Amino acid sequence: MIAPVNRPVPAVEETETSRQGAPAIGDRPLVPRHVAVVMDGNGRWARQRFMPRFFGHKQGVDALVRAVNAFADRGVEYLTVFAFSSENWKRPSEEVSGLMSLVLVAVSKYLTKLAGDGVRIRIVGDRSAVSDKLRQAWEHAEALTENNTRITLAVAFNYGGRWDVVQACRTAMAQGLRPDELDESWLSRHMALSFAPDPDLFIRTGGEMRISNFLLWQAAYSELFFTECLWPDFGAAEIDAAMEAYAQRDRRYGSIRPQAVVPEGT
Ligand code: IPE
Ligand code: IPE
Ligand code: MG
Repeated sequence: MIAPVNRPVPAVEETETSRQGAPAIGDRPLVPRHVAVVMDGNGRWARQRFMPRFFGHKQGVDALVRAVNAFADRGVEYLTVFAFSSENWKRPSEEVSGLMSLVLVAVSKYLTKLAGDGVRIRIVGDRSAVSDKLRQAWEHAEALTENNTRITLAVAFNYGGRWDVVQACRTAMAQGLRPDELDESWLSRHMALSFAPDPDLFIRTGGEMRISNFLLWQAAYSELFFTECLWPDFGAAEIDAAMEAYAQRDRRYGSIRPQAVVPEGT
């Protein structure tokens, strides 16, 4: 039997971190380089405890900090999490403003720890709609952790997959690109996650089986994993279950045999 090979060649810039030591059987890497997570279920988690939804969001931040370290310990190089979608502005204004304040609190509570843990932080999404204070907090977090190499945590905030495609197209137009100069590789290099390979594993907690406008472009060939677990409860057991499921998958990218690379033009 041919050993499945499930690591695509990154669409963009190679990572500086080494894959040496990552568990593998033959040519088959068992650990995803890049994991994307829709952190869903905070509100329901709180409601189950007769608490306001905000309590669930607060617990969700703690779950995220635990998850970053757990993924890093398992050899994951990039973790991209959906924290606030382009559509989450539709929520009641108290919830939206609660989430904005929570991000500031989270940065002041956890930035030193994350920086010390070797986490490089990136924020992806449309920053134009958030307060100056929040923008400055993010810029500070990114600058402080810029040289860390253990894991990159990309926080998608005011992010939408459709927004991402449109903003890359706008850049193309602003740069006066000719139609024949615009291809998949150019767009990938101008999208919000241009610093990372495409996600290998896409996890959604909270039981819903949909993408909700997360990484529409980048998740074209991600392996999907859905769990009923509500985000604040997401921990080592769920991470191991997702990583184990990933290790069993054969990635074919349209071919009939497991592929080592994403073929040109897919
Ligand atoms: C996800 O949890 C967090 C955000 C969208 C900010 P939800 O708030 O969507 O929780 P549920 O889905 O209502 O339980
Ligand atoms: C997706 O969750 C967005 C985030 C987790 C930030 P939602 O709760 O907003 O998604 P829908 O509304 O159930 O699709
Ligand atoms: Mg939800």
